[in-house]
Amino acid sequence: MASSISMKELTLGVCYYPEHWPEELWADDFRRMREMNLSVIRLAEFSWAMLEPVEGQFDFRFFQRVMDLAYQYGLQVILGTPTATPPAWLTHRYPEVLNASREGVLYRHGMRRHYNYSSPKYRELCARIVRNMVEAYKDHPAVIGWQIDNELNCEINEFYAEADHQAFRQWLQARYGTLDQLNKAWGTVFWSQTYTDWEQVHLTRPMVSASPNPHLALDEKRFISDNAISFAKLQADIIRELAPQHWVTTNGTFGHLDSHKLTDELLDFFSYDSYPQFATLSSGTEENPLGDRAWSMNLSNVRSISPNFCVMEQQSGPGGWVDRIEMGTPRPGQIRLWSYQSVLHGTDLLVYFRWRTATMGTEIYWHGINDYHNRPNRRVREVAQVGEELARVGSLLAGTVYQAEVALMQSYDNMWDGELDRWHGPLQWQSMRSWYKQLQYRHIPADVITLREKTTIEELLRYKVIIYPHSAIMTDETAKLLTQYVQRGGTLLFGARTGYKDIHGQCYMRPFPGPVAELCGITVEDFTLVKGSVRAAELQWEGSRSQLPACTAAVGFNEVLQVEDAAVEVMARYASEYYRGKPALTRRTEGQGSVWYYGAAYSEPIVDAIIDELDLTAPFADWLEVPANVEAGIRSADGRSYLFLLNYSEQPAQLVLKKPAVDLLSGVKLDGTLELPGYDVLVIEV
Ligand code: GAL
Repeated sequence: MASSISMKELTLGVCYYPEHWPEELWADDFRRMREMNLSVIRLAEFSWAMLEPVEGQFDFRFFQRVMDLAYQYGLQVILGTPTATPPAWLTHRYPEVLNASREGVLYRHGMRRHYNYSSPKYRELCARIVRNMVEAYKDHPAVIGWQIDNELNCEINEFYAEADHQAFRQWLQARYGTLDQLNKAWGTVFWSQTYTDWEQVHLTRPMVSASPNPHLALDEKRFISDNAISFAKLQADIIRELAPQHWVTTNGTFGHLDSHKLTDELLDFFSYDSYPQFATLSSGTEENPLGDRAWSMNLSNVRSISPNFCVMEQQSGPGGWVDRIEMGTPRPGQIRLWSYQSVLHGTDLLVYFRWRTATMGTEIYWHGINDYHNRPNRRVREVAQVGEELARVGSLLAGTVYQAEVALMQSYDNMWDGELDRWHGPLQWQSMRSWYKQLQYRHIPADVITLREKTTIEELLRYKVIIYPHSAIMTDETAKLLTQYVQRGGTLLFGARTGYKDIHGQCYMRPFPGPVAELCGITVEDFTLVKGSVRAAELQWEGSRSQLPACTAAVGFNEVLQVEDAAVEVMARYASEYYRGKPALTRRTEGQGSVWYYGAAYSEPIVDAIIDELDLTAPFADWLEVPANVEAGIRSADGRSYLFLLNYSEQPAQLVLKKPAVDLLSGVKLDGTLELPGYDVLVIEV
């Protein structure tokens, strides 16, 4: 079981950069933080050039002074190790520590995260600064924990420095032992790619077209993830050795990084950086129909790493760099709404980014709570309101956990393989989005979980329903686990392109869906990608409870299913194209459960019909009516249960309560028909 943060009360904090401000401001800042019920600050994660201004010469006095003062004001401190921003002297003297583009062009000083994880020199210098920093601060009474680096794999998640090519070779040697095994795993007999010497093996390099060997490309991502974890381990080990009394975390979920493994192996709990305003960059588009509410899906994924976690950076103003990521200002109520969105989904320590907007540098438009002028503003008042509310109810909420009986499942292998493979990658997002959206709109709480080698049957059996839509890579072991889940009562749903690849991403010489064909009781007799002029077939619903809207199409991919087992029921058929009349969606009962196979990617209408057929309803359906634009979810523990209602719309939402309740946040009594104002939040004990 993943590990959680353990807080006595729901706690608020803020990212603070004392190095950006005159020292005279610190005391006033700290006093005002405490008035707003912010009791934790995160410091120092970009401060290497201050801590080690000259190679080998350390100076820890600055943050010592900051922490002494913070402590006087009753603030606790999270310290970030500064390895995301190597000083100029370092990259100038040791250019081998720099990351490089695929073409081998080095990324130079001037941004952040421009280093590679492989360089022995960088590892040595990181270990030294971290050791010295932990030594210097470990006994400070304000310090409660450490953040390793900052957002591993953010900004860039590909690494092509010379040191990376070398480290990749070593990683491959450990994984495959011999070149012969490597050649087999990568299918190098195809197009004469056979390697005869390890020196010939590289991470992907510039080629005549951007289509690398797909098996190499998959291993490249696995390597990047393992390499990031081993880089973080270097630091975690030092912190644990010197400061065993402190917790260790790191922040952010980024590409090519197995955050579950990272957390299991190194951390006390995981932390996430929540910026729902990113949704406005693609809001209302087909890509992101949920807008800022789509962030709940990200937070649900974080919860699968640590059921209760820290949000190390919570958006507290409009985002933007000088030249990109421009965002509008959060409207009145949205900062508070997003704070409770994080809390609903499992946050017990919520740290706002940042106290005051920077007056210099790349992020002069990434707004914090305070403006440059430092006078009270609407964002300060809004955060203070959250602070005031949590001061009253924070101890009730702490430790309660989001409740869900439905899970959307994914796996790193399939995510990474699907980045390159256009025949299954895009289907995944289509299906996850449709399921998450419809479950959200119908108030059926859902988790997002990750299937891993170590996933146990008990972990799966927590859910009544699991949707594992397009797991192209599927081993026989996984199939066995999933079969057990169904036999023991679970309802499992697959989608097109399931089970046709092995662990290397090579295709099986077996009928689709390979290892789960028997479980599903079907095979795929014909198939087509749906794209461009290739039309999606329409569907004819055969289930008993629901109907599909006219002309509902089977999007993304059309697999023509062949029933192989008498126990299979056909729930929908294709109604057009040359395969009209053939099965598109099937259900088979096995043991105490059932398994569904859909030969396409899930879209909203088909998800709705399946939800009806499965008879899934909101946990409060008998006493509360909530419109679709309000998110509803429950956090519970030890007999305490709290229902959160979050209105993401600017418009008021009408609620109908069939029994009286009280809003914990305001103390107001609720009954009958009432309006939840735009962007407002209710928390009700149930
Ligand atoms: C995060 C990062 C912060 C800050 C913020 C706003 O990704 O960790 O340091 O840059 O974004 O851009």
